[in-house]
Amino acid sequence: MNKNYYITTPIYYPSAKPHMGHAYSSIVVDFFARFKRIEGYKVFFLTGTDEHGLKIQRAAEKNKKKPLEFCDEISKTFKELSKILNLSNNDFIRTTEKRHHKSVQYLWNLLEKKGEIYLSKYSGWYSVSDEAFYLDNEVETIDGIKVAKSSGSVVEWLEEESYFFKLSNWQKKLLELYEKNPNFILPISRKNEVVSFVKSGLKDLSVSRKSFSWGIQVPTNKEHVIYVWLDALTNYLSALNYPSTDNEMYKKYWPADVHMIGKDILRFHAVYWPAFLLAADLPPPKRIYGHGWILSGEEKMSKSKGNILDPLEIINEYGLDSLRYYLLKEVSFGNDGNISQDKLISCINSDLANNFGNLCQRVLTFAEKNLGLKVPKNDSLNNDDLVILNNFNENYQNLIDYINNQNINSYMNFIVDQMFVANKYFNDQEPWNKKNDIKRLNSIIYTSLELIRKISTLLYPVIPQSSLKALNIFHIKENEIELKTIKNNTFLKSGLAINKIDILFNKVISDD
Ligand code: ME8
Ligand code: MG
Repeated sequence: MNKNYYITTPIYYPSAKPHMGHAYSSIVVDFFARFKRIEGYKVFFLTGTDEHGLKIQRAAEKNKKKPLEFCDEISKTFKELSKILNLSNNDFIRTTEKRHHKSVQYLWNLLEKKGEIYLSKYSGWYSVSDEAFYLDNEVETIDGIKVAKSSGSVVEWLEEESYFFKLSNWQKKLLELYEKNPNFILPISRKNEVVSFVKSGLKDLSVSRKSFSWGIQVPTNKEHVIYVWLDALTNYLSALNYPSTDNEMYKKYWPADVHMIGKDILRFHAVYWPAFLLAADLPPPKRIYGHGWILSGEEKMSKSKGNILDPLEIINEYGLDSLRYYLLKEVSFGNDGNISQDKLISCINSDLANNFGNLCQRVLTFAEKNLGLKVPKNDSLNNDDLVILNNFNENYQNLIDYINNQNINSYMNFIVDQMFVANKYFNDQEPWNKKNDIKRLNSIIYTSLELIRKISTLLYPVIPQSSLKALNIFHIKENEIELKTIKNNTFLKSGLAINKIDILFNKVISDD
């Protein structure tokens, strides 16, 4: 069985500092990466920055910096954010790196040799903000300004000599790909959009620019730089040491399991990218998942709209794990979502502090007072205990399926239910009234400790730092976490000394 798993975030434009939208994609990918690791996969989680093109060149000019100097600075803030978000990425790629240049130029040569690229002239609309070409019917005039309907960003008229990729040749093959792999594009609503776009007919795609220089040169024509999307998409391969297809990284990880992206860049990933790959005789990725947007009011939060929320502010005020928990639980995954302070506080107070944190404290305090800090005996678990413990066993495959289908909300609902069930169990069993029945008392505390262990294991991908604190009750270290142990109802060894831990989450008192 193939136990390798490759998941990526988009590589972000370092045109301005990262915002909550970038943090969201990265946290989501980190969640999947951590889950697959504890499931026993060798995971390769890639993120990085997309540093070429006119958008970046103009941003650098505006800041009176050389493009590379500008990219170095901003790319660093993305790298720092990945630390602050506690991302477990295995690599951080920058498209200005040599390894990437090499891959892109190789791919270009290959496509040109195969007759997939030809020189002609482009005339049409271009949005620098989206780095995208638009057809007449994709553009509208608002207040006298031409903008792209899909993104609202300004377009300019462009006429220049350009290389073209024969995208029109790949229409049939792409439709076959979507048909044969019904989950290639998710969610399904997004897939339908892409299918109808491809069905409506594909025009050849302009893949080089002549009027500026900040990019990777076309190897056979120094006057052109390679279109930034052909350049950027190739990052997913250059991180695996492409053009070598004979090295361990490529062999283990290509094709990628999931390219996680926002819905804004679906067409590039679900149409252009597989077409480039098919044309180069390389296998396309297994899945493109286009998640929704974090909104600011009604609008997409974006650098160009200037309506951004700084993830650092939220983290400073409420803590990283609270933010991660909120984004994963409260955003209906696949759809747009808002950051609501009220809902965030309610997640912290109800779920994290009252439910999970309190469960840990109650059980530990009780265990300390009545049984010493030791895992009690487990030789008399009764039906009440087993029914609850078995929830995890019985839902084991479901949980894995949720993750393989990017069904974050069902995964989170299961955890929330189990936190509730565990608290209720502790209340209903009234261990404080069982002090004369040591067997029963042992069983209740044993079961409660097992529930804490299982829930904490499932929380690891969501709130890694807090989960590790809770697992430290049982001396379980990060590299020892294994998903399959949630199937085991008697994992904890009787007699094991348990650690007391500090309060995991403090309640937030709101100002109003
Ligand atoms: O498009 N809500 O980079 P980019 C949710 N360089 N996610 C958001 C978001 C929001 N409001 N805003 C941004 C690019 N994102 C290219 C990608 S990949 C080969 C090249 C996230 O800096 C989301 O994942 O504009 C979106 O697709 C991505 O950041 C766009 O980042
Ligand atoms: Mg963007």
